[in-house]
Amino acid sequence: MKKILLITMVLFVISSIKAQNQLLIPPTLTGPNFNLTIDYDSVQFFPGVFTQTAGVNGSILGPTLIINNGDVVTMNVENKLVDTTTMHWHGVHLPSEMDGGPHSKIFPNTTWTPSWTSMERASTMWYHPHLHHKTYKHVMMGVSGLIINKDSDEGALDLPRDYGIDDIPLIFQTKVMDANYQIDANMMNSVMDTLFLANATRNAYFDAPAQIVRFRILNGSPMRVYNIGLSNGNDFWVIGSDGGLLSAPVQNNRLLIAPGERYEILVDLSGMQGQNISILNYGTGIPSSTYGSGTMMGGGAIQNYNNNHLNGADFTMLSLNVIAQTLNPITTIPATLVSVNPYSQSNVDENRQFTFTSTGGQSGPFLINGNTFDMSQVNYVIPLNNKEIWSFTNQTPIAHPFHIHDVQFNILEINGAAPPLHMQGWKDILLIPGHMSTAKFITKFEDFADDNIPFMYHCHMLVHEDEGMMGQFTVVDNNTLIVDHNNTNKTLLKTIDIFGRETNANNQLLFYIYDDGTVEKKIIIE
Ligand code: C2O
Ligand code: CU
Repeated sequence: MKKILLITMVLFVISSIKAQNQLLIPPTLTGPNFNLTIDYDSVQFFPGVFTQTAGVNGSILGPTLIINNGDVVTMNVENKLVDTTTMHWHGVHLPSEMDGGPHSKIFPNTTWTPSWTSMERASTMWYHPHLHHKTYKHVMMGVSGLIINKDSDEGALDLPRDYGIDDIPLIFQTKVMDANYQIDANMMNSVMDTLFLANATRNAYFDAPAQIVRFRILNGSPMRVYNIGLSNGNDFWVIGSDGGLLSAPVQNNRLLIAPGERYEILVDLSGMQGQNISILNYGTGIPSSTYGSGTMMGGGAIQNYNNNHLNGADFTMLSLNVIAQTLNPITTIPATLVSVNPYSQSNVDENRQFTFTSTGGQSGPFLINGNTFDMSQVNYVIPLNNKEIWSFTNQTPIAHPFHIHDVQFNILEINGAAPPLHMQGWKDILLIPGHMSTAKFITKFEDFADDNIPFMYHCHMLVHEDEGMMGQFTVVDNNTLIVDHNNTNKTLLKTIDIFGRETNANNQLLFYIYDDGTVEKKIIIE
């Protein structure tokens, strides 16, 4: 007992020393074949203390995958965990079979080998496990990595792109630590994510050249929203969102970033050699009822929320020591970037409505249209090439970052107003404020039809997701389906869904079994 107390006191002393650590820059991997091994290891977040972690090809996080538009990539994902897991390519437009959602299990000591052709615009995406009920745990243990998509439009621009020099990956995450300084991956304790890490580095610094530096920021935290700004009060420029570059840099002073979101920003450090500035989380400016803010309004307060010193606090995310310029520095912010052609609102095929409700105030669990996630239920069958507007009403007292697989979308409105300029490009996450807020996006379901394997949509706060704030849809090619109501030569025996259950429900793919032994695939849209 005494020993444990002593160790705890020593750890407390160690942890209160504000020594800075050099920012870890994940190594890069280039394709077309990527070997990714998920395994346990340990990290010394606190010198001399070994914290058990999990990572991809290393002790924590994973390599940054560099993928060019048009590359035919193959991933060999080996699972050396004792748990079954999956690997999802967040943001990537690919066949549902390759998507790595909860249906694509990788059992322990097996390898999963998805393959696809990259259709991505230049952008920053990421990969992480996605097994239902285990996403939070596996991400909390450390499994997450970045994907940098490249294309020729981006390549033609004068942008910083020396990885680790002036083009810096930044994965912001928090961890819950137990009394023995081990990661507590139990969702029940998610509220105490008091350890903030930048690229798995505590109190991180980076030696940044005195020129324009690009940061590719991922909020990889399980729950927490950040409000990013610079300690010297300067503006920065947002150049890209989840699915690609913006049409022009957007000058901002603050940037709200929700779990799962990515933004690329340019920071101008010209003429600042020898100075030190920081990227801060301005937690005091996070809107109320948004996880991370100091003011959570409404009933059913999250227990112990106010005991986490990060909530509502301003703190340093990364400290920058400005050093000499590189040989070929970028010193001007480009006036324009790429052409962004958002979907037009004419000829929309479908409007879908989503309402979020809570079964327990701010802590949930939360429901989408009254439902909790059911693996055996396909919530929507979407005809291939449908252009759709999805509209949301958030009746819960907390903001939710809604994420959809397969597609990128354009945000049409948030609470009736057009989104800010930096949110007018390609997105796969939309933070929907709480308390009866509304939002809308438009998207199109192109290229990948599959009658059997669904894509997911869910809240990207991982506790909400694991607790069931998720649904699924298939994309089906109607042109291959025969809807034949007039055939009189045969008698319908039964109608079954894709899981073989008898049903007459509309709006989903059904198999009509006839007495002459024929089977027809049909979808009847209400
Ligand atoms: Cu980043 Cu369905 O997830
Ligand atoms: Cu949520």
